[in-house]
This record gives sequence, C-alpha cells and structure tokens, in this order.
Amino acid sequence: MDDTARLEVDGKSYDLPIIEGSEGERGVDIQNLRSETGLIALDPGYKNTGSCKSAITFIDGDQGILRYRGYPIEELAEKSTFLEVAYLLIHGELPTREVMDRWNHGIMRHTLLHEDLKRLFRAFPKDAHPMAVCAAVVSALSTFYPEDLNPADDAQVASSIERLIAKFPTITAYSLKHALGQPFIYPDNRLSYIENFLRLSFGNPCEAFEVDPVVVRAMDILLILHADHEQNCSTSTVRLVGSSKANIFACISAGISALWGPLHGGANQQVIEMLEEIAAEGLNARQFVDRAKDRDDTSRLMGFGHRVYRNYDPRANIIKKASADVLEKMGVNSKLLEIAVDLERIALEDDYFVTRRLYPNVDFYSGIIFDAIGIPVEAFTALFAMGRLPGWIAQWSELQGDGQAIGRPRQIYTGATVRPYVPMDKR
Ligand code: SDX
Repeated sequence: MDDTARLEVDGKSYDLPIIEGSEGERGVDIQNLRSETGLIALDPGYKNTGSCKSAITFIDGDQGILRYRGYPIEELAEKSTFLEVAYLLIHGELPTREVMDRWNHGIMRHTLLHEDLKRLFRAFPKDAHPMAVCAAVVSALSTFYPEDLNPADDAQVASSIERLIAKFPTITAYSLKHALGQPFIYPDNRLSYIENFLRLSFGNPCEAFEVDPVVVRAMDILLILHADHEQNCSTSTVRLVGSSKANIFACISAGISALWGPLHGGANQQVIEMLEEIAAEGLNARQFVDRAKDRDDTSRLMGFGHRVYRNYDPRANIIKKASADVLEKMGVNSKLLEIAVDLERIALEDDYFVTRRLYPNVDFYSGIIFDAIGIPVEAFTALFAMGRLPGWIAQWSELQGDGQAIGRPRQIYTGATVRPYVPMDKR
C-alpha cells in the first residue's frame, strides 16, 4: 500500500506521508500541510481528523471491537475490577498483586474531602445537577492542593491522580446527599472502592449499611465499561485543556462538563427519561420509533447511534446481558427494560436505523442498572464520569508525555471583509 498521498493544487504536487497504526489504521499526516501548501484542512466535528497517536484504547467501529491496552473489553468486564482497569489504562500494564495492593492503598487513603471543601456543597441549591456540582468541586480541589498542580512534576501528578480517583465517589455521593438534605457520612476505608461509594450514597449515620455483592459487581462492570473510549468529545476536551498546561483538576473538570451534554454522556439520563415517557404515555415501541425517525419530531432514540460504532457497541451488549442478570438477582421486574428491549428489536428491523447503521450504544441499557440500584436519574452521568475518570487521566498523561504543542485549530473565515468604523450618527 502507498506510504504517501499525492495532493495536486494550483498545478503543484505535494506528497503527504501516510502513517499506519499497530492495528492497521492509516492516516494522512497533515502536520506540514499549511507550511508546504498554504492550505488548511477543514473538518467540522472532526469526523475525519485524528488529533493524536495513542496507545491506550483501540476501537474498531465496523467490527464492534473495544480494547483497553490490547485487552478485549469482554475479558476485562468478566475478569477484572474497576481499580485494576484504572491502573491498566494509566500505567499501560496489568499490575502484579504487590503493585495492585499499593495502588489500592494509595487511593483508599485519600477518600476524605477537606472539611472546608465540604462547605462548598452547601452553596448549591438542593436541585443542583450532580454534574454541575462534580465539575465545580473537582475544579475546587486545585485550591486545596496548590503544591500538586505542576503537570510536569511526576510526583505531583501521581499524588493528584490518587486524590482524583479516590475523591470522585465521595464528591458524587455528597452531591446526592446534599439533594436529599441528609448528612454526609465519612468514608470507611475498610470497605472496597465501590462498597465505599454505595455506603456514602445510600447509608446514613442512624443504621448499619449492608452492601449487596450483586450491586457491587454490577457497578464494577459498569465502571469498567465506561473507563475509556479513545478520543470522544469529553476526552478530547481534557486533552485540549491539558495542552494549555492547565492543572489536572481543571482539565478533568472540563471533561465532566463536556460529558454532561445529552449527545454524549448525558444520554444515559435521557434514555431513562425517554423510557419513562413511553411508559407514562402508554406508547408502544413502534409508535416511539416512528417519532424518532420523523424529521419534524424532535424525539430521538436516545442511546442509539454512535460516531464510531457502525455496529453494535460491544459495551451495550455486555450491559444488556448484565442488566437482565442483575434485575433477576435483585428480584426487580423492570418495565423500562422490557420497553428498551422492544425498542431495540423494532429499531434494528427498521430501514431508517439499518441504513444509517444506528445501534444501541453504551448509554442505552446502563441506566436500567443504575435505576435498579437506586441511583437517581440525574446522577447517572456522574456515574459515567466516575467510570471515565481513569481514561481521562490516562489520555491526559499520554498528552503530557508527548510534549504536544498547545491545541489551537485553524478556521476558514467567512465574515465581512475590511471596512471603516461608522460613527453612530452616520449609521
Ligand atoms: C457516548 O464518542 C464516543 O465514544 C462517545 C461515547 C463514549 O464512550 O465516550 O461512546 C459515549 O456519547 C455515546 C452516544 C450517546 N448519545 C446518544 O445516545 C444520543 C443519540 N445519538 C445521537 O444523537 C448520535 O447518534 C450521536 C451524537 C451519538 C452521533 O452523531 P453523529 O455521528 O454526528 O451522527 P449524526 O447525528 O449525523 O446522525 C447520522 C444520521 C442522522 O440522520 P440523517 O441526517 O442522515 O437523516 O442518523 C440520525 C441523524 O438524524 N440519527 C438518529 C439517531 N442518531 C443518529 N436518529 C434517531 N435517533 C438517534 N439516536
């Protein structure tokens, strides 16, 4: 195959290098395009443009393949744990028992929030969206650790990574407790990472909290499946902010805000609201699918479609199976799951979805499990962020290691050409 691409412009030829990745993906390297030709490439939404080389996550959208550092997502979901996957994504290798114990200990001893930071939660209205709270509190973490903000200092970065992963569940749980007007309880580091989160979210000082192992395992799987997804919108945001050498807390806070959007991580909340709307209106799946296809109707089949997957999102496959299993073990009969399975069946037989290669994505079934666990729907995206946190950190770290220049896209200007200022009384 060619290792250069020929560009013919204004009677001149330019050979642009073609690079190939370890999985055979090929791309035209246009890093010198403007200096050599005076031209830029235009690609709104970056549908055809790679921002970086990365060794973290591989997706084959046509085959429905997802691997973290070469390990298939199906194996990691079945055999690993979220904290082990977090280590794998950030450090590139599966940890030995000794390394894992050190990683786990390093994280679990940072689960507390500074007592002054806890006061910040009180400033929010009771109905503050958890993503607004999480973005604000994560950014505020930088004010409590000014000694650990240098992205070029490995020890400072390692300390900040431990604090971010450790404190994010506490922050999320406290945003739920604030909404309920219930007291914030302290983490109990004798519990596991996920057990701690469940106890902080659902426990209270008046009674013992029983952890359900079925729920813990379901959460582990969901967080693993959300942990990274190469250069998606929020990860690209973290990278772009990271390229300005902002501190890691500011970068992660920016990623949280990007994930909040209903076209991205916010879709998991939208899916449940869509299923509840269908149930409440007594619609059948066919009626709603027809609305989702109608250009004059703003309804979309939320949780369906993906920029990269033009096949079934492998994560949706795993979550769909897990949701049926978890609900059965919990003795929960979910009407919403029935509606979701019906919607999928009808959409996947419908020409509109088939021709556009629209399949269920990670958000289509995840809310069913979050709902069954008792997570409030407005907190679903915060759980997505909890899962995605190690992926954002791994991608941010890779960017810092690459020594990449600040991200600064160009544009094609289409506005007014030069004109003189006109005094107000002459307009
Ligand atoms: C995530 O990038 C990642 O990796 C993201 C993510 C991750 O792990 O980080 O996987 C997480 O964000 C998953 C996606 C969650 N969002 C949703 O479920 C929202 C619903 N889906 C869409 O809005 C849409 O599919 C996107 C945003 C996900 C992808 O949009 P694209 O790639 O820009 O595709 P598009 O909007 O141009 O759609 C192509 C066509 C359009 O129809 P036509 O203009 O060709 O007639 O498909 C239609 C769209 O109208 N379409 C849908 C649809 N999704 C796309 N029609 C109805 N229902 C849908 N869900």
